[in-house]
Amino acid sequence: MARDLSVERPPGEPVFLRACRRAPVPYTPVWIMRQAGRYLPEYRELRSKVDFVALTRSAELAAQVTLQPVQRYPLDAAILFSDIMTPLQGMGIALEFEPGPVVREPIRTAAQVDALPSLAPERDVPFVLEAVRLARAGAPRGVPLIGFAGAPFTLFCYLVCGRPSKEFAAARTFLYAEPHAAERLIDRLAAAMAAYLAAQAAAGAQALMLFESWAGLLGPREYRRFALRGARRTLAALRSLGVPLIYYANGGATLLEAIAELDVDVVGIDWRTPLGVARRILGPGKALQGNLDPAALFAAPAELEHHIDAVLEDAGPGPGHIFNLGHGIWPETDPDAVARLIDRVHQRTARR
Ligand code: CP3
Repeated sequence: MARDLSVERPPGEPVFLRACRRAPVPYTPVWIMRQAGRYLPEYRELRSKVDFVALTRSAELAAQVTLQPVQRYPLDAAILFSDIMTPLQGMGIALEFEPGPVVREPIRTAAQVDALPSLAPERDVPFVLEAVRLARAGAPRGVPLIGFAGAPFTLFCYLVCGRPSKEFAAARTFLYAEPHAAERLIDRLAAAMAAYLAAQAAAGAQALMLFESWAGLLGPREYRRFALRGARRTLAALRSLGVPLIYYANGGATLLEAIAELDVDVVGIDWRTPLGVARRILGPGKALQGNLDPAALFAAPAELEHHIDAVLEDAGPGPGHIFNLGHGIWPETDPDAVARLIDRVHQRTARR
């Protein structure tokens, strides 16, 4: 299974990192959100023997799963195998994955907010940092490792609501009922995630990504007050590290004017907003990442090519595009469709 794909990659700075800087690239780089996960038979095989939390807590196994997709496919980046809730477990929050995260004692009061401990990454989540070191050491040449964290508002949603939800009603009512406590919680999470991401960079992560999966729950005013505030505080602390910063907002179509204010290198766009529209709002100073609908991988092969080409066309001919899905890949996806996707992007964009 493990092919040596490094021979196919050009020498010099990895293509993915060049695209993050909006520098010229020999082809459009591609990676896939949730690429280390359940659509891969080798992941399911391992998961039949080891439960999810144990996987995230074993540096060796987490590094192995991180590398599974880049050993199978000529992807242009690896993303650390972990979960956005893993650092919160490290801070002492009791939770289970069923398979989404379920928090045993949701945070509902100002007193609980003030009692939340801070995160010392090397003490609280050493296995994550060791996984970063191992994955970095084992990644094929030219395949950078992306470290990640949940954005403060998205973590807030799980902490306050206690479980995945469509409306996250408890989290949203907390914003209105206890706005100052909500801001304090967001700020604490921002400080913790800044420390967490800085530690990942120190351990070898070559780009850092914040997942704002629940941005779309908010109108622009609350988005700015809570979510953007948290993202800005997290990212500001990382600016001096010299690694590209990526911010992905799911459901962010009406929030792009606000997102344009964030000091990031790359903005991840979901499938609902054409990349050309995002480009006009975000301006020329940010690279874009995205945004094929994860459902498109279920199209017939010729149709899939057509949908991929449409995304490339929306992205335009200029530099600063990283191909990805608009949200995480679905577990039912055919692994062969992923192979076809990557080849199509590379072939179609190869600079002659
Ligand atoms: O390949 C990768 O992207 C790296 C690994 C990764 C996981 N979770 C592994 C995982 C990443 C980057 C995440 C981020 C994550 N986790 C997000 C943000 C991205 C997004 O999809 O919006 C969110 C919201 C979570 C919370 C979470 N964890 C949910 C909702 C679930 C269950 C449903 C689902 O989408 O899988 C999880 C569990 C989880 N995290 C699994 C994996 C591979 C499945 C666990 C299993 O193997 O049973």
